[in-house]
Amino acid sequence: MLNTMNYDIDITKEPPADDTARQYYFIEKAKAYVQRESEELGRPLTFCVTTFGCQMNARDSEKLCGILEKIGYVEAPEDEADFIIFNTCTVRENANMRVYGRLGQLKPRKKKNPHMMIGLCGCMMQEPEVVEKLKTSYRYVDIIFGTHNIFKFAELIVTRFESQRMVIDIWKDTDKIVENLPNDRKYSFKSGVNIMFGCNNFCSYCIVPYVRGRERSRDPEAIISEIRQLVADGVVEVMLLGQNVNSYGKNLENPITFARLLEKIEQIEGLERIRFMTSHPKDLSDELIEVMGRSKKICKHLHLPVQSGSSRILKKMNRHYTKEQYLELVEKIRKNVPDVSLTTDIIVGFPGETEEDFEETMDIVRKVRYDSVFTFIYSKRTGTPAAVMEDQVPEDVVKNRFDRLLKEVHTIAAEVCAVHEGTIQTALIESVSEHDPSMVTGRLSNNLLVHIKGDKGMIGRLADVRLTECKGFYYLGELAE
Ligand code: 5AD
Ligand code: SF4
Repeated sequence: MLNTMNYDIDITKEPPADDTARQYYFIEKAKAYVQRESEELGRPLTFCVTTFGCQMNARDSEKLCGILEKIGYVEAPEDEADFIIFNTCTVRENANMRVYGRLGQLKPRKKKNPHMMIGLCGCMMQEPEVVEKLKTSYRYVDIIFGTHNIFKFAELIVTRFESQRMVIDIWKDTDKIVENLPNDRKYSFKSGVNIMFGCNNFCSYCIVPYVRGRERSRDPEAIISEIRQLVADGVVEVMLLGQNVNSYGKNLENPITFARLLEKIEQIEGLERIRFMTSHPKDLSDELIEVMGRSKKICKHLHLPVQSGSSRILKKMNRHYTKEQYLELVEKIRKNVPDVSLTTDIIVGFPGETEEDFEETMDIVRKVRYDSVFTFIYSKRTGTPAAVMEDQVPEDVVKNRFDRLLKEVHTIAAEVCAVHEGTIQTALIESVSEHDPSMVTGRLSNNLLVHIKGDKGMIGRLADVRLTECKGFYYLGELAE
């Protein structure tokens, strides 16, 4: 689904000053180069964007795809593509290793195919050591850019076509938000919508504030007009995206709270479902809980990363809440938003974590009884305060704790899931089931999946479904009469 604008552009003239218009100018310019190459080749040039990491990156990739399609590239599988782009993540070290591995595999292909280009972007590129390593050991990469200037992709492609050299453009930070560029949505019926960029929290283990920059909120009018457009194109569900959505709007010229933004979005006719992530417990307001409690459209799901159950570790993590405050918050949410599904992120093996600290984490998991938990082994990120903390926990100890935690969260999640067996709930049908082509997969308001008999004609529809059998993390169901 390509969303785009139409501009009158003359590429024989100088580029326009306005950021959006300037990029449409470079899109036209790049188009001419791509057309020339495809005429030489006798076939269209192809591309493949591979996304690592979170939903923010997934949304950024849709923007990259939109620009590439507008330029005239055609999407293809990675092993056939002329232009391969890795949109990278650096939140944990293993994400970086995977990118170097994949990049190494491309070297022989690039030697054989003179038309081939490789682009790298995303969070990992914001780390100066990474770019140094690429400059010395991966000279065959064509374009390197970061998280702040994704919007310039077409311009960078043109620079590459005109210079034949490695193009590197990394910005340290930005206050710019460039609106209305093309994007190619993966799903016709649901879409991510950025409401803010960056993070100001500086949790001591986290590299995100260093690679995504300071917090910037989009204007509510821009968000609402984007969602209106999406709804007009057939979207029924939006996922509002930000590293810390609860502090949305604080730094706007006309400040507005996240809860108020949700109320405005709720009024958009034709929009059926609203999701959002991620919420920081320290900023989650009573106003938001109230709005969630009375909303007809906001899904009954809250992702509320706890990170650890030990108040001592939470302090060292710079999270600004204690175990007790988190538990009080959970109680308040459950009281005001009945049946809400709670999910979380937990890091095991943060520096200095003792067996007692870990037991506190197990305890909070047993008390909250999460619907699902994303568990992570602590990964040391150079430049963050935690990387130089004493008492890094030995690997075998971390592994043992990680396994114990995983077992506990699985047992609890299966019990929590079973509670809804036999009920009728609304599901948004998202795809044909991967395992059985006679089944379709739907997502419930609480974010769990249900498989029912059906065909691809049902995709994008909201259907009432009876949850006949709980399978631990998903359900089997049937259409309710
Ligand atoms: N090591 C392990 N997990 C991390 N996360 C962020 N930084 C690290 C790190 N250095 C996890 C947090 C966050 C999620 C997106 O990734 O749990 O909520
Ligand atoms: Fe990282 Fe903390 Fe910001 Fe989340 S809130 S992105 S964990 S610094």
